[in-house]
Order: sequence, then C-alpha cells, then structure tokens
Amino acid sequence: MARLVVVSNRVGLPKSGARAGGLEVAIRPALKKRGGVWFGWNGRIAEGDPGPAQTLRKDNVEYVTVDLRKDDYEEFYNGFANRVLWPILHYRLDLAEFSRRDLSGYLRVNEYFASGLAQILRDDDIVWVHDYHLMPLARALRERGYKNRIGFFLHIPCPPPEILTSLPNHDRLVSALGAYDVLGFQTETDALNLGRYFSNECRFKRLDDETFLIDGRAVRVSVFPVGVETETFARLARRAVDTAFVRDVLDSLSGRAMIIGVDRLDYSKGIPERMNAFERFLGQFPDWRGKVTYLQITPRSRSSIPEYADIGRVVGETVGHINGAYGEASWTPVRYINKAHSRTALAGLYRAARVGLVTPLRDGMNLVAKEYVAAQNPDDPGVLVLSRFAGAAQECAAALLVNPYDPEGVAIAINKALAMPLAERQERQAHNFRVLRQNDLGRWAERFLAALEVPPEPQLAPV
Ligand code: UDP
Ligand code: G6P
Repeated sequence: MARLVVVSNRVGLPKSGARAGGLEVAIRPALKKRGGVWFGWNGRIAEGDPGPAQTLRKDNVEYVTVDLRKDDYEEFYNGFANRVLWPILHYRLDLAEFSRRDLSGYLRVNEYFASGLAQILRDDDIVWVHDYHLMPLARALRERGYKNRIGFFLHIPCPPPEILTSLPNHDRLVSALGAYDVLGFQTETDALNLGRYFSNECRFKRLDDETFLIDGRAVRVSVFPVGVETETFARLARRAVDTAFVRDVLDSLSGRAMIIGVDRLDYSKGIPERMNAFERFLGQFPDWRGKVTYLQITPRSRSSIPEYADIGRVVGETVGHINGAYGEASWTPVRYINKAHSRTALAGLYRAARVGLVTPLRDGMNLVAKEYVAAQNPDDPGVLVLSRFAGAAQECAAALLVNPYDPEGVAIAINKALAMPLAERQERQAHNFRVLRQNDLGRWAERFLAALEVPPEPQLAPV
C-alpha cells in the first residue's frame, strides 16, 4: 500500500486539547486508521525566518509541521484565505476584502508548502490536500516535477461560476485545481458548480459526467460527503451523558428543556440570525418562557480579522438583549459560552438536549449536525433543526429543515421540535441515523482514497 501524505494548513497535533474545526476532526481518525504523514502549519508564528520543519511521530502518524512568518500569517491566512476565499466560497461577496499583496502572500505560502513537501515526498506516495488554503499546491508540486497522484478535498462550499468569477484572478486560481487528479466536494451542487466553471471558464474538455481532460490527464470531479464516526460517537455519548460535567449542567437547568447550538464564532454560522429566531420563538410561544434554556457554545475563531471581531460584538449584544428582555431572576433564556469544549463534553450535552439548533447561512457540511444525530438516545431522541444551506441537509433529510433567513420559520420549527410526539421523533431519528451510519467518516476516507489510488481507465474520445 502506498504511503499517504495528508496536507492541510491546520494540523491536529496530538495533545492540542479541545479544538474546534471540522477539518481537523475529520482528518485525525481517518489518518490514524491508515497511518501516514500529516504535513502543514503548526499554528506558530516565527520570529524572523522559520527554521526547518519539525517532526513528531505518534503511533502510526508522522506529523511534519512548519512555522509561518508574520507576513505569511497576515497575508496568506488572515488575508487571502480568510478574507477573500472564505467569504466568497460561502456566497458572501459583500464581506470579501481583496488585495494584491494578500494574493501574492497566498501564492508564496503555497510555494513554501511545496518546497517543504519536496523534502519528504517519495515517488510512490499518494498526496491528499485539504481545503481552500491550498488550491494551487498541486500546480506548485507539478512545476517541481512531481508526478504523484494528488487529490484535493474542499471542506467548504463551492459556489456557482457567477459567484466564483467575482474572485479577482479566479482564472489562475480555480484553473490551478486542474493540476490535481481527484477533486472532492461535499455535495452534488458543489461538484456541479466546479464542473460548470471548468467547462464555461476554462474550456476544459469533459470526458464523462465526472471526468475532465486537463493537460493530457484525466481529472475526476466527484462528491464525497464527509461523515462522523457514527457508532463511536454514539458510544461516547452514551457514556458522556452520565459524567459529572453533564449531570451538573442538567442539575443547573432544574428540569427545563435544553436547546443546544455549537459553532465556531463565524458569520457563516448564522448565530445572530438564530438568536433572533429564538427571541421570536419566546415572543410567539409564551408558554415556553421559563421552561426552556438555549445553550450556545461558541469558541472564538480567527479573532484578529475585523469581520470576526464584528460578529463577536453582535452576538454578545444580542444575547444581552434577549436575556434582558425575557429573563427572570430565576431563569436565563440564553447561555452563551466562548470556551471550547472537549468532544466528550459535547457528546453528552448533545444527548441531553431536546433540540439541536444548527442554522448556518451556508456550510460545506456541518459536522455538529451529524454529531447531534449520532449522540441521540434512539428510545427518546431529541430533534435536529437544520439549515437547508448546510451540506448535512442532503443526508439528514428527516431533520426539520429550515431557512435561516426566515426567523419566523425557525421559531415555528423550534416550537414544533419541542412539542414533537415521541413516535415522530423516533422515526426521524432512525432515518437520519441509518444514513449517517452508512456514510460514516471511514467510508468518506475509503471512497476518496480509492478514487485517488486507482487511476481512471483511459478514455478514447471527449464528449
Ligand atoms: N468542536 C469541538 N469543541 C468545541 C466546538 C466544536 O470539538 O468547543 C468540534 C465539533 O464537535 C465539530 C467541529 O468542531 O466536530 C466543528 O465542525 P463543523 O463542521 O460543524 O464546523 P467548522 O468549524 O468546521 O466550520
Ligand atoms: C473550517 C475549515 C478548516 C479550518 C477550520 C478551523 O473547518 O474548513 O479548514 O481548519 O474551519 O479554522 P482555522 O482557521 O482555525 O483553521
């Protein structure tokens, strides 16, 4: 079996503690299962020039990580990746802040990653690159003469060409994806969008539904929805619900129903919109006042970026407003926490919550939604209220699907979830759980790696 080299900007180093972020949560177990190398940034900013890569071996995984320079961090990470690509790929053209300096920092760090990889890559390694930080990495490796099979998985949405083309220099950046062998997306829509871009903007020849002919190579564009470790997470939740931590939380609720939200503090997650919907719910369904508590766990993320600082302020003010308007001396409607929680703590809280409220404005997948389903007690399950704009809505079709831009609709769904009869809850839960057990995290990695390892049959004529 070929050695697997995984590359991502964020590396989940062992013992890095409670961390939020779906990419790390997905890669860690998948890589541990097969063994291999994980290459990327270690989260440190070097004083002056970064030294050589650092290597750490734990079990069957070798972590090879590099520092970033201060200007790399500003231009590549805070700048182009998170102030241009992140908003545009999440359909938020209004929030994109483009500068040529940041773009050149982005390309420079991709070259830096390529030269770091050149120190460790062997001819027969297969390389699996993750997420929007590293779109041009395969091209940088090809220019250095690497002929390895290289795959790319985009954890976040891929918008249609009408939006992608608003990305300055999109032709250079998006067409650079053609240097990969396999391009993986979370949903059919994402893969179709990239396919339309390839056909209309790059004029790449289509060989079949999933394959393009690019520079003499067959490039596969396909859907691999990322999953969770459904059975393992269900077991974890069964244990975690009985821990002192979860018992304390439940005691503090004094028998009230709990609604839970868990998201990085990111504008794509629709947290202020969700708070507004919760306020509407309290206004419209007064019988629930004093009987339900909404716990929102929201670790801070990318805090030095102005749009992230802004959303932090808005959420804080909104929580204060709702608690001020509806709270009682003996009841706080919204509990808002910025501390990151361990997976065990989250698993127990999910299981204890009557409603999982997951309402991103746009999300590649949203693993919290899947974890909430995995964690439920099948005999007395809670209800998932899920944005139709999360990739997870494709598989969790038995959730209460909502439009996060419609606060009244979300308020009605919260009421429906809290009031739902047991038989309907069980039926919806069984349906979602079945799908998630079938398409779990292991299957995601297996399917992607199978596509990457087996070169497609040569095709004769383009259609
Ligand atoms: N998470 C965590 N601790 C926290 C908050 C979140 O471990 O305090 C995890 C959460 O369980 C999930 C991941 O971070 O596995 C978030 O992934 P998701 O796809 O929902 O969103 P992302 O942050 O990747 O946009
Ligand atoms: C999302 C992105 C990942 C990223 C994570 C945490 O899951 O898809 O690429 O690692 O958020 O964000 P951060 O900027 O802290 O790495």
